Amino acid sequence: MTSSPVSAPPPPAGIASRIAKGDVTRDLDLTHEEFRAVLELADDVKRSPAAYRSALGGKSIALLFEKPSLRTRITFELAIQQLGGFAILNDGPIGAREPLKDAARNLERWVSGIVLRTFLQKTVDDMARWSRVPVINALSDMYHPCQALADMQTLREKFSDTRGLRLAFVGDGNNVAHSLMLCAARLGMHFTIAHPEGYEPETKIVAEAERLAAETGGTVSGTTDPYAAVRGANAIYTDVWASMGEEDEAAERRTDFANYQVDDDLMSHADPGAVFMHCLPAKRGEEVTDSVVESKRSVVFDQAENRLHAQKALLLMLLQ
Ligand code: CP
Repeated sequence: MTSSPVSAPPPPAGIASRIAKGDVTRDLDLTHEEFRAVLELADDVKRSPAAYRSALGGKSIALLFEKPSLRTRITFELAIQQLGGFAILNDGPIGAREPLKDAARNLERWVSGIVLRTFLQKTVDDMARWSRVPVINALSDMYHPCQALADMQTLREKFSDTRGLRLAFVGDGNNVAHSLMLCAARLGMHFTIAHPEGYEPETKIVAEAERLAAETGGTVSGTTDPYAAVRGANAIYTDVWASMGEEDEAAERRTDFANYQVDDDLMSHADPGAVFMHCLPAKRGEEVTDSVVESKRSVVFDQAENRLHAQKALLLMLLQ
């Protein structure tokens, strides 16, 4: 880990063990110790933002977005700015004008870190392989680790103990579901996904989550029955039925997911104290009703706020 001339408080125990070239291309790139330390640091950054004002010491970080974004882009830019660094934004395809391995070896000469939102996980992996600076996955087809960190921070705020918490994901077994499942398993939660036939999460990722859950006392399960999934759940989570890049499947998916809308009736089968979660943007009237998003149970804007704090913690861990 590199040291830097900053006045921010020392990171929590565990962070100091981080290797210099620390990529977060997927959730499990963080060790258990680092994962917990990031969550603790995210809480501290949220409580005391001024203490970290110059923590990045003027470092520059490239934000590369091949896909649209509101939350991820704004919160990374703000996070870098509020930590005393500089964000360099670049929209558009990577590896179109030159091989990705060349782009990676240009970027590493200029910036201290790379945040990348792209289509394929392979693009994130290749960027991490070819650049000598840390690469953070800001969403790929397989994972959304920054979202899951903010979601775990939110659940830790809403519930005194996340161990044993019942988290039900209703919808597509997509990148958000993958990251959520892995992080929930790490914290000892009981994670269930309800999905239509043919929209299961990746078998390999489920196996990883099950392995983690076996260590933490959590569980991972799947069903095609949304009512079975939400029964007694403490948190109900959903995401759009057609993710970015799947727009041409939107009509077919509307049919396939028709019985998977999170509405007031489905929420009434959860625990009375259950919260509603969504990574946003939401398509009201499809995966969730307007009344659920606007209800007192909805914590979607807390999740969005925590993107800022969780990503600050990640940047501090990798770059400070
Ligand atoms: N949740 C999320 O990643 O939002 P954006 O697509 O707006 O970044």
